[in-house]
Amino acid sequence: MKALNVCVIGTGYVGLPTGVGLAELGHHVVCVDKDENKIHALQNGQITLYEEGLEELLKKNFSAGQIQFSTSMESVSNSDVVIVAVGTPPHPVTHEADMQYIHAAVRELATYLKNYTVVAIKSTVPVGTGTVVEKIIKEQNPTADFDVVSLPEFLREGFAVYDFFHPDRVIVGTNSERAQSVIQTLYDAFETKPNMLFVKRESSETIKYASNAFLAIKIHYINEMANFCEKTGANVLEVAKGMGLDTRIGPRFLNPGPGFGGSCFPKDTMAMAFMGRQNDVSMTLIEDVIKENWARKKQMANRVLNVVKDIPDPKIAVLGLAFKNGTDDCRESPAMEILDEILKANVTVTVYDPKAMENAKKLIGDKVVYASDMYSAVQNADVVAILTEWDDFKSLDLQKIAYSMNHKNIVDCRNLLDPQKAKENGFNYLGIGR
Ligand code: UGA
Repeated sequence: MKALNVCVIGTGYVGLPTGVGLAELGHHVVCVDKDENKIHALQNGQITLYEEGLEELLKKNFSAGQIQFSTSMESVSNSDVVIVAVGTPPHPVTHEADMQYIHAAVRELATYLKNYTVVAIKSTVPVGTGTVVEKIIKEQNPTADFDVVSLPEFLREGFAVYDFFHPDRVIVGTNSERAQSVIQTLYDAFETKPNMLFVKRESSETIKYASNAFLAIKIHYINEMANFCEKTGANVLEVAKGMGLDTRIGPRFLNPGPGFGGSCFPKDTMAMAFMGRQNDVSMTLIEDVIKENWARKKQMANRVLNVVKDIPDPKIAVLGLAFKNGTDDCRESPAMEILDEILKANVTVTVYDPKAMENAKKLIGDKVVYASDMYSAVQNADVVAILTEWDDFKSLDLQKIAYSMNHKNIVDCRNLLDPQKAKENGFNYLGIGR
């Protein structure tokens, strides 16, 4: 395998696992970030975000000299591939993807381009961005020899390392054969060759949004079915299982819950809807899912508050703050949004999350009491609300907490517990769609 020189710009949830993964494959990687604290920590072998298995791989490749960290883009001049993985957060007013970080990064990297380089855009960007990036580079550096490729990322937070090494597919958007062969070399080191699809740049940019929006719609669909099951006596888990056996539907992303969250689905569905409006294409399905997904968080909060409405000064225990299991990320977390709604009712809330306590503190400070473990969180509580699907919570000893709680109420927004066992231990148990 031919080792390439790769520069990854942005060391967030996409950039860092990508850089570490490419280093593990044998490429020479420099990860660049403007944030001096982050780079300083990484240079000292400290991990800056939680992803299973990432810390070990980082340390291994850092001590072997396969990966380096820098605040400067200098290494671009020596790179075969520059991967842009900076954030594209939603614009606060229009909800379109905010491109300022991409534009700034591209303006700067352009000035360092020397030999032929592939500039691969990994950040989720609006359709047409490749052309804009090309123009910026030409303006900054008219003699640069380069190709701009769309290389969207499909890894999930919490499973980033696994997904990096087992991608369902690698989508490469470019018409340049030269760029195609460089990207092919980048993935040559995979033991099992990933399924690679070479398409037009605009198609590649669209595939990313179309995939995320589709998955968001799938989740919302099963949540609506869960509401229906609650009224009719059906069990949504059985319904999802039965639907999933149809290979045309598939079993994944049919887990009902408190609504989708995280830094991708909410942002990308809004950006897709914006692009639809911009191009005068009706996207009522996506628009509706965005609206209903917001409403769902409020419905979940009301479900919790309703259980304790007749209890004076109720105490609520919240288990789970991260937007899903396996991550410490609380951005756009359904749990945090439900918690916000609950707090509006002036109740006392104790919270616990196995990984996300520090990030939650940055967002809500001292509005809640932070417990050291799940059992202290539920002590004297009138209701326990399970908001994130951590495995730890599945093993909650119901007999034990039945003694320590003031009232035996459970609102299980992730269907982690066995309703029968909860009932046997005297709990009033509310799950989702069953
Ligand atoms: C998502 C996509 O799954 C990745 O393919 C994509 O690369 C990434 O966005 C991105 O664009 O960067 P991620 O946001 O990490 O990944 O998380 P998911 O595992 O997709 O979950 C998103 C939300 O949907 C979470 O709140 C999760 O709890 C919820 N969800 C997921 C459900 O409620 N039910 C399900 O069946 C699956």
